[in-house]
Amino acid sequence: MNDTFLRACRGEKTEYTPVWFMRQAGRYLPEYQKVRSKVTFLELCHSPELCTEVTLQPVDIFGFDAAILFSDILIPMEAMNLELDFHEGKGPVFARPVRDQQAVDALVVPDPEESMPFVMETIRLLRRELKVPLIGFSGAPFTLATYLIEGGSSKVFLETKKMMFQAPEMYDALLRKITTCTSLYLQAQARAGAQALQIFDSWAGVLAPCDYERFALPYVQSIIRDLREVTDVPIIYFANNGATLIELTRTAGADVLGLDWRINIKDAVRRVGDHAVQGNLDPVALFLPKTDLEARIKKLLDDAAGGRGHIFNLGHGILPQTPPEQARIAVDAVHRLSRG
Ligand code: CP3
Repeated sequence: MNDTFLRACRGEKTEYTPVWFMRQAGRYLPEYQKVRSKVTFLELCHSPELCTEVTLQPVDIFGFDAAILFSDILIPMEAMNLELDFHEGKGPVFARPVRDQQAVDALVVPDPEESMPFVMETIRLLRRELKVPLIGFSGAPFTLATYLIEGGSSKVFLETKKMMFQAPEMYDALLRKITTCTSLYLQAQARAGAQALQIFDSWAGVLAPCDYERFALPYVQSIIRDLREVTDVPIIYFANNGATLIELTRTAGADVLGLDWRINIKDAVRRVGDHAVQGNLDPVALFLPKTDLEARIKKLLDDAAGGRGHIFNLGHGILPQTPPEQARIAVDAVHRLSRG
């Protein structure tokens, strides 16, 4: 097995810089579109065979150094007894947002193996096929809570912040339930064979640092503490738009900190040098002409050198409009230019 990615996560020396892309399995790939044209997104998420197929696609096509389980961060929220739907062009929708104590009380903390057997089955199928490590994942409790409370995606997060500020005890009760669910879910993924775990905190950056510290970080710390008791797989924590939070995210307990593109990776390495870092090319930089893209990748690799370890990635998910050929150029450039 090519374990370059796992060694980089642990801060060990590698012959080259490993690379994978967030959302590497997805709509920019015609091969994904073909599978997706026959089923809805949720049907896809519920099918171990199809999830296995689309997880493998980008690894086989581009030679990524890690695979990420195909699923969605909101799947365990369905298992908590919430009605989830994905609307074309609008993203996830919860028909009945969680905004009062009764709704919080109605949430169940599911047994992941019983309620999401299709995820565990996907992991087992993938481990049989893969020659690179498999990353499992979850959303972070705050990010998951925003979807539940807002009822979908949001810009201002008014309802979420109102609950924090006006009903902090209810907010805490909700977050604790999500935290327990997430903790058990990630532990089950590790048991099923996930070799690294990434926690996506996609909306962390909308919080003031003092609110992040009180209303988001403690729940992530609790999940990671629980995981450390039962598994030694590397843990990656990605707090999107988190440049202003980096001294706080450093205390989450992760092995690797994921970085979005708004921070210079050299600055990040200086500030969190005790962690390996993952990132952080602007996803739109994949639209640069080839020589410019390669020059930017070279600069990023140089800037990330000298830290505890670097896993090359985008600063957020690859955009559906990205020409696949540009992904190939980027992966090849990382492999070629990082060999010292
Ligand atoms: O390749 C991979 O990274 C693995 C699969 C994966 C998906 N979603 C598939 C997906 C992962 C890791 C996620 C995580 C996820 N889901 C996050 C955190 C990462 C991030 O982007 O910040 C979030 C916030 C979600 C919630 C979500 N799922 C939204 C907001 C949307 C709609 C937005 C959009 O791009 O349309 C989804 C749908 C989704 N999840 C798609 C995919 C491939 C597109 C669905 C389709 O095929 O129509």
